[in-house]
Amino acid sequence: MSPPTVVTLSSSPAPLPPVSTVILGTGSYAPAGLLTNSELSKRVDTSDEWIVTRTGIRERRIAGPEEATSDMAAKAALAALADAKLTPADIDLLIVATITPDLPMPATACIVQAKLGLPTTAACFDLNAACSGFIYGLDTASAMIASGRYRHALVIGAEKLSAIVDWKDRTTCVLFGDGAGAVVVGGSSRPGLGLVGTRLGAIGESVDLLCIPGGGSSAPATPASIAAGDHTIKMKGKEVFKLAVRAMEEAARDILEQHGLHADQIACVIPHQANLRIIEAIAQYLELPLERFFINVDRYGNTSAASIPIALDEARRAGRIKPGDLTLLVAFGAGLTYGSALIRW
Ligand code: ACO
Repeated sequence: MSPPTVVTLSSSPAPLPPVSTVILGTGSYAPAGLLTNSELSKRVDTSDEWIVTRTGIRERRIAGPEEATSDMAAKAALAALADAKLTPADIDLLIVATITPDLPMPATACIVQAKLGLPTTAACFDLNAACSGFIYGLDTASAMIASGRYRHALVIGAEKLSAIVDWKDRTTCVLFGDGAGAVVVGGSSRPGLGLVGTRLGAIGESVDLLCIPGGGSSAPATPASIAAGDHTIKMKGKEVFKLAVRAMEEAARDILEQHGLHADQIACVIPHQANLRIIEAIAQYLELPLERFFINVDRYGNTSAASIPIALDEARRAGRIKPGDLTLLVAFGAGLTYGSALIRW
């Protein structure tokens, strides 16, 4: 056997890692198709009154048949890039948080990369943490940029949940919608700015409370599983509701405690938009008025990983986030995952 070749690494000094990681731009995209509660009540045994009282949802957006998760993701990403005054060539990391990839394989991030024309030197991957996916993605991107090995990341939350909803199941089909939100993350030399901290977690023992039972490696799709609707979302709503409130409260409390902050110092809370009653419970727990929360669940329903980045983009564009403000993101979703993040603007 020939002796190993010694590889000499470049002697040019590595750039210094940034002091903090900041959000340089935000963008979002909602498909044109509008599905109101009254339209839904013609399809299943429900009513506008039931949906509004139990969830706060009035309407949701539905992607067209030709519109995939990657199409919505690319549109949100272009808006975020424009906001950051950057081009696709500046991006060297792309994370797409989604539970509705275009295909089981490859990653939707690679499809988005091609649609945006990102460099082939960019790292691209998907992240599945359901409704907490955006916060997980933000933390991952921030850590990779803090390493000094990446300069600009696109973190996208994008979902076509209409493709995995059982439209005959009134207990779930009224809840979900489609859309995408994106942010550009970069490094900064100013301390204390941007992503101040995150608190992530998961309650894996309760996976069966919210899942798609069929179509994966444990139960590959068969004609019988498809006929039984096993490839659509199944949720034990009441149990999920209780765990969602508890985990989101804990995630919010922990991150505030970790950073020696009081809830009153948060200028705007961007919660996962699943149910207005969950958001009201968090507001009560944090002893904050509901006005301190950005809420758009009435217009979009639950868009899973897209929910927080859409709300974040709308909150910024509505002037709800000002320089120096502290924003709290808090989410909960299938897994059961949860997470919170503090951002100083
Ligand atoms: N229209 C009319 N009646 C309905 C509907 C509907 N769409 N859906 C259920 N009902 C009925 C039920 O059958 C039940 O009737 P019954 O009392 O005769 O049995 C009654 O309404 C009450 O049902 P509950 O399930 O008790 O309703 P609840 O108040 O718990 O609200 C909901 C249900 C909205 C699903 C709530 O439990 C919830 O929001 N859960 C959490 C969802 C969530 O946060 N998911 C996490 C993220 S999702 C992700 O990660 C992809």
